Amino acid sequence: MNVYDSARMADVLAPLGYRPVDEPDGADMVILNTCHIREKAAEKVFSELGRLRRMKDRKAEAEDGRMILAVAGCVAQAEGEEIVARAPFVDMVFGPQTYHTLPEMVAKASRAAGSVLNTDFPAESKFDFLPEETASQGVSAFLAVQEGCDKFCTFCVVPYTRGAEFSRPAAQILVEAKRLVAGGTREINLLGQNVNAWHGDGPDGSSWALGRLIRELAEIDGLERIRYTTSHPRDMADDLIRAHAEVPQLMPYLHLPVQAGSDRILAAMNRKHTADDYRRLVDRLRTAKPDLAMSGDFIVGFPGESDADFAATLKLVSDIGYAQAYSFKYSSRPGTPAAVDGGQLPEDVKEARLSALQQLLNAQQVAFNHGFIGRSVPVLFDRIGRRNGQLLGRSPWMQSVHAEANERLLGRIVEVRVDAALANSMAGTVATGEFTTASFPRNPSFPPAQPLEASA
Ligand code: 5AD
Ligand code: SF4
Repeated sequence: MNVYDSARMADVLAPLGYRPVDEPDGADMVILNTCHIREKAAEKVFSELGRLRRMKDRKAEAEDGRMILAVAGCVAQAEGEEIVARAPFVDMVFGPQTYHTLPEMVAKASRAAGSVLNTDFPAESKFDFLPEETASQGVSAFLAVQEGCDKFCTFCVVPYTRGAEFSRPAAQILVEAKRLVAGGTREINLLGQNVNAWHGDGPDGSSWALGRLIRELAEIDGLERIRYTTSHPRDMADDLIRAHAEVPQLMPYLHLPVQAGSDRILAAMNRKHTADDYRRLVDRLRTAKPDLAMSGDFIVGFPGESDADFAATLKLVSDIGYAQAYSFKYSSRPGTPAAVDGGQLPEDVKEARLSALQQLLNAQQVAFNHGFIGRSVPVLFDRIGRRNGQLLGRSPWMQSVHAEANERLLGRIVEVRVDAALANSMAGTVATGEFTTASFPRNPSFPPAQPLEASA
C-alpha cells in the first residue's frame, strides 16, 4: 500500500514540477513514506532522518536551494508530534489520509519556518481529489480499492493509523483499472488492509461485494490477471469463493492471514474466528479451486502464548500447507490493547518460536516449488531480470520465475518449463507459444504429490 501511496503522491506533486529521482542526495524534496506496523519499521525513521538532515544541510550550504524534508505514512500519523519535537528540521509531517492536500502543505512549508503537521482524517476522501496517474505502473499494477480497518485485532495499529474501513466506489475503481490496462497493465493487484471487506454500489445501484467487483474487472479487455490482498477470514464471502472457481483471470493464490493456531490466543487477539473456522474455510476454498496456493501471516510470542499454544500454530501450518508465508515476532505497539496485557514474553522465547515456525514454513514453500520442476507454467513476464537477456515474472501461484527470454515477451504470458526451484524463486526455460487466460493449463497433480518431508 505504501508503494501505491508513494506513486499517488508523485502524481499529486507532478503539476508542481516535481518528478521522481533515484537518489535523495541533492533532491528538492524527500518524502519518507513510513510503516508503523512493528517497532523495527518505526525505529528506522529516526535513523534515516539523521542521514537526510546531513543531505539537507549540504544542499543549503552549497546554496543549491532548499530540500523540503517530509515524513508521511503511518509513523507520521501515530508519532507526528514526537517527530516535530525530536526532528524540528523536518518540514512536513502528514498522515496517509492527507496526501491529496500536498500542494497546500508544500506552499505552507515553502513560506514558513517550522514544520507543517497534518494528521487529520478529513471528511472528504483523498481518492476523490487525486489526479490521474502520471506514469504507467507497468505490466503488474496496484490499485487501492479499500483502506483502513474496523477489525481491531488487539496487536494491530492499522485501525488507528489508517483509520476506519473505507471502500472506494466501484465506478471509480473501474475507470482507474481501464486506464491502467490502456497504459499497458496486464495484471491488477487490488489492495486494501482488509480488501475482502470491500463493498460498494455498482453503477446499476445494487450493492456489490468484492466477488462482483472482480467479475466486472474480468470483463476489461486485455486484463489477464487479477489478485487481491490482504483478506480477513471473516470476510471471505460465498460469492468471492465462487469467483475463485468461475473467473479464470482470478489467480489461484490467496493471502489469508490466520496469525495463530490456538483458539485461546485467537480470542485474545480479537480475531473473531477459531482455528477450525479457518480450516473449514480453506477446505471450502480448495473445493472451489483445487489448485489454490495459500499464503498467510503469523505472529509468534503474543502475550500469554504458552508452548501448547505455539504447538497449535505449528499444527495448523502442517494441516493447511502454505505455498508462501510471512511470520513475525509479536511487537508491542503503543496504544493497542495487547501492549498492556500481562504475560509479555521474553525475546529469546519469541526468537526460538519464530525460528521453528519459519523452518516449517520454509520447508513447505520449498516443497511447493519443487513440485513444479519439470512442468510448464504460464509466466507473465513483468520486468527485466538482473542478468543480461533474462526476464522475470510470476506464475499464477505467485511464484517468481526467471528465464532467458527476448525482451519482446515483456507483458506477455509465456509457457515456461521449470528447471530449478528454491524457496523464493524458480528458474525455467521458455517453452513454446504464448498463453491467453483462456488457455491456462490445469495442473493435474496439484498440490505436489510427494510428502513435504521428502523434499524438505
Ligand atoms: N507485531 C507483530 N506483527 C504484527 N502484525 C501486525 N501487527 C503486529 C505486531 N504488533 C503482522 C500481522 C499482520 C501483518 C501485516 O503484520 O501478521 O497480518
Ligand atoms: Fe490489523 Fe488486519 Fe486485524 Fe485489521 S484485520 S486490525 S489490519 S491485523
